[in-house]
Amino acid sequence: MNDSRELPRITTYVLKDMKMRGEKISMLTAYDYSFANILDKAGIDIILVGDSAANVMAGYSTTLPITLDQMIYHGASVVRGVKRSLVVVDMPFGSYQGNSKLALESAIRIMKETGAQAVKLEGGREVLEAIDRILSAGIPVMGHLGLTPQSINKFGTYTVRATHKEEAEKLREDAMLLERAGCFAIVLEKIPALLAKEVAESSRIPIIGIGAGKWVDGQVLVLHDMLGINQDFSPRFLRRYHNLKTEILKAVNQYIDDVKNKDFPNEHEQY
Ligand code: KIV
Repeated sequence: MNDSRELPRITTYVLKDMKMRGEKISMLTAYDYSFANILDKAGIDIILVGDSAANVMAGYSTTLPITLDQMIYHGASVVRGVKRSLVVVDMPFGSYQGNSKLALESAIRIMKETGAQAVKLEGGREVLEAIDRILSAGIPVMGHLGLTPQSINKFGTYTVRATHKEEAEKLREDAMLLERAGCFAIVLEKIPALLAKEVAESSRIPIIGIGAGKWVDGQVLVLHDMLGINQDFSPRFLRRYHNLKTEILKAVNQYIDDVKNKDFPNEHEQY
């Protein structure tokens, strides 16, 4: 079992170096202090405070409703639990699209109020002006291409993206634009593995995949999905490492029985 106390702090520079050395990058989401603390101790390289918090924390069916204030609350909670991992906070829907001044203000709030090391936002050429402006303030930006859940109402489906020639070509170009603009890494979500391989091989920044195959520079999953806390979501790319929902149900059922049967608390568990 890993204990990250011996390992150096992860920075954007360290991540680029990992790509150059061919060391794969591990990334998971977290939204609170306790889980972030465990992931950090385990030695995860990047913790993403994803706007998937809208789904797994708040129970919304899309990521659109979560607000900047709510992302800041989750971000600050995660940062308090972390010593080594690089913490990236998602910019929520409505906090950057179509207005680079607003984008900069939102990114500055995230950095000041959470203490995170970077922000992530979705899109390519459409958000390039926003990315330029955020980068000009010295804030590291992680891009996100392919399936971009904040645009679900435009696409109407969560199926695999960039399977057609034109969409694949746009993705290749967008990845190049994001790298040239100065993004330190890009997440590629749910695209063909061979396309992701091509992008990873032609870029000098780390390409992190979720449903993008094994040839990219690192992998990210949503924590509650990979731990089996949330079992309503089972895409092909998801590997479940535990069945925590069942474990938690067992523990809570046992507690309920113990209370009902007057078995808890016993004489050693009282004052
Ligand atoms: O919000 C999120 O969890 C994400 C990951 C799926 C990459 O953006």
